[in-house]
Amino acid sequence: MEGITIISTGAGLPSRVMTNEDMAKLVDTSDEWIFTRTGIHERRFCAEGEDNLSLAIAAAEQALSRSGIDKNELGCVICGTVTAKYASPSTACLIQKALELPEDIPVLDINAACAGFIYGLEVARGLLCAGERKYGLVIGVEELTKVLDMEDRSTCVLFGDGAGAAVIRVEQDAPYESYLGAKGGLEIFIEGVGAERSTVHMDGKAVFRFAVSAIPKVINSIFEKSGKTMEDVDHCICHQANARIIDHVVKKYGAPEEKFYKNMERFGNTSAASVPTAMNEMWEKGMIKSGETLMLVGFGGGLTMAGAMLKFNGKEA
Ligand code: ACO
Repeated sequence: MEGITIISTGAGLPSRVMTNEDMAKLVDTSDEWIFTRTGIHERRFCAEGEDNLSLAIAAAEQALSRSGIDKNELGCVICGTVTAKYASPSTACLIQKALELPEDIPVLDINAACAGFIYGLEVARGLLCAGERKYGLVIGVEELTKVLDMEDRSTCVLFGDGAGAAVIRVEQDAPYESYLGAKGGLEIFIEGVGAERSTVHMDGKAVFRFAVSAIPKVINSIFEKSGKTMEDVDHCICHQANARIIDHVVKKYGAPEEKFYKNMERFGNTSAASVPTAMNEMWEKGMIKSGETLMLVGFGGGLTMAGAMLKFNGKEA
């Protein structure tokens, strides 16, 4: 099967900034507690007029406009989210309608929690390889504030809202390797349709233990399959759940700290949006050059874990 490369990125971020001090007005917490345990200082919450769908559309539109492709060249639209505005239609279908994307292509949402964007890349790759068009639009979006219990200090301080997107291209000889898996489990969950009130529940310590083993498992598996090493990777973009989780991985590989990007300080954990928004921020800062190799890693609810090692092959910022 052909590999994929990323040719452009985009993001849609809410306008409302919530600092740790703002959170301390809602629950008994402090900037010191939150920052030392998570590396988070602030996050974005949707303001009036903003929601999962508006953020997703903004991210998708930006990635598409930066890609330089004709939207009729798209072969699929895949959206990773666990906080869709509607159980049906999918967010992907509503993005398709808003941006007047082709009607004769597969358009669907994926529920793989914080690994949703990377699962989305792999699903898009399969669909593009099976079809005729070469380009796919993949989005990761969350409006987690909709499912946060603002009285539960152990979860509400961790999460934020946001959306990130990428246009990808399948290429015959593109170097690409991936790993997708899941362990099952209810260590982190949100009640489904019909529940009186859906909120995030998490056993933080269990998820932490899972995360610090899942990231190396994903990366090592990709290295084994590809014969590559950390030296071959220019930037490692992990799910931005907690700075301590990423620091643990940096130490494990003895890698330079700057190889592992971190931006949870300003955005918190945005689940499926965290990897694409971090990648977009790096691109906007001119940190990602054409031809560079990215290692993307996600882990989260369902105890999903996913990674993709691929090239950025687009225009530079
Ligand atoms: N402010 C102040 N005190 C708090 C807060 C808060 N916001 N939250 C919890 N506490 C208190 C607890 O009540 C507890 O007090 P007690 O000892 O008197 O009972 C104390 O702090 C310690 O609580 P712990 O839960 O043991 O804190 P821990 O050191 O484990 O840190 C944390 C919690 C930050 C959630 C950590 O477990 C973690 O990061 N886990 C990983 C979570 C994660 O990455 N989730 C995302 C992945 S999945 C996804 O992204 C969808």
